[in-house]
Amino acid sequence: MNTPNATFDPAPFRARRARLFERMQAAGGGVAILATAPERVRNRDTHYPYRHDSYFYYLTGFREPEAVVVLVAGAAPKQILFCREKNEEREIWDGYRHGPEAAREIFGFDEAWTIGDLEKRLPDTLADQPLLWTGLGYDNDWDVRVLGALNAVRDKARSGLTPPHSVRDLRAELDEMRLVKDASELATMRRAAQISAAAHCRAMRATAPGRFEYEIEAELLHAFRQAGSPYPAYPSIVASGANACVLHYVGNESRMQDGELLLIDAGCELDGYASDITRSFPVNGRFSGPQRALYELVLAAQAAAQGATRPGAPWNEPHDAAVAVLAQGLLDLGLLRGSLDGVLENGDYRRFYMHRTGHWLGMDVHDAGEYKVGGEWRPLAEGMVLTIEPGCYVRPADDVPEAFWNIGIRIEDDAVVTAGGCELITADAPKTVADIEALMRHARHG
Ligand code: GLY
Ligand code: MN
Ligand code: MN
Repeated sequence: MNTPNATFDPAPFRARRARLFERMQAAGGGVAILATAPERVRNRDTHYPYRHDSYFYYLTGFREPEAVVVLVAGAAPKQILFCREKNEEREIWDGYRHGPEAAREIFGFDEAWTIGDLEKRLPDTLADQPLLWTGLGYDNDWDVRVLGALNAVRDKARSGLTPPHSVRDLRAELDEMRLVKDASELATMRRAAQISAAAHCRAMRATAPGRFEYEIEAELLHAFRQAGSPYPAYPSIVASGANACVLHYVGNESRMQDGELLLIDAGCELDGYASDITRSFPVNGRFSGPQRALYELVLAAQAAAQGATRPGAPWNEPHDAAVAVLAQGLLDLGLLRGSLDGVLENGDYRRFYMHRTGHWLGMDVHDAGEYKVGGEWRPLAEGMVLTIEPGCYVRPADDVPEAFWNIGIRIEDDAVVTAGGCELITADAPKTVADIEALMRHARHG
């Protein structure tokens, strides 16, 4: 962000910092320190597009690089931001910087200092605190800075100051908080989902035999950017024909052929939140018999998983529901042999369905949060957001009917767990055979 943020509402971020204080207090108090992501060089003097650290953003809403948040829990809690200083010369070249004064005001901190003051101020902040909360082991430079500050307090022992007696994993604490989205997060995720769904519609309308996968990727990027998204939440997959059986295909360089399916896995990032949608549809607008048979099967598997997504259900239940439907369908179509119990037991279905049915979704496309707690699958709870994305990928093989070769299908929606079950926030992207064929027919014939 290199413009002033005039409409920023600090309330949700302050509420998160308050909740973190409660959690820290319950565990013994102390000080939390967290840095945002560094800028990274792409080549020579060109940088990758800057993306803040998700944890840091979650607590601050602050998107400039070179920033650190320090949260002092206890009887006199204090929220401190360190950020780049105002610098007229640099701002001419790189754009607006809030500077500590404006940042403190706009982002709702008690104090703000320039980032250059961090080393000097940190030892005093850490002194006589019982615990230090931070994320260690993710970034060497950060680890060195934090340990340097700890050692600086140890050096003051003769003045009667004591360093924190142990270091706690701040990220683990924030992971738990991030799992359940608050109202402002859900509002942003809904908007991101709508933009991505509209992008998928645009991509479907633009698809035709003879066009290149990258032309369709360009349609997606156009729709994202035009709606205010700065970039996709992950590299877009636009995979026609056999490419759809490569799970992380991102080359997007083939010419699409009549009779193939096109699998698109693409979602925008909006205000720091991801969306993640996959649709699979015929390049020529009409499903063939075998394509349709497998497509309906994956759709039924998705419906089963959706039905199993509700508060209290263990994380694995939607996956198990999808696998049971897929395995039975693959037996019925002659792609698998044996009994349902047999293929579920021996895992033969994994030849055609080798990934999980979903993941947490939030600021990161594969969002933070453990899937097991105390060795058991975590129960779903209202406000969690996850994807539901079963698929089926058939590579050519002697024991597989040729009609199914090179068909790769995935159908992916983003689900918010609600009191009564779940809500798909990406439903605007068509996915029944009838709806897809109708949209593509209209695109061709008006
Ligand atoms: N697009 C990444 C995923 O579906 O997990
Ligand atoms: Mn996904
Ligand atoms: Mn995806």
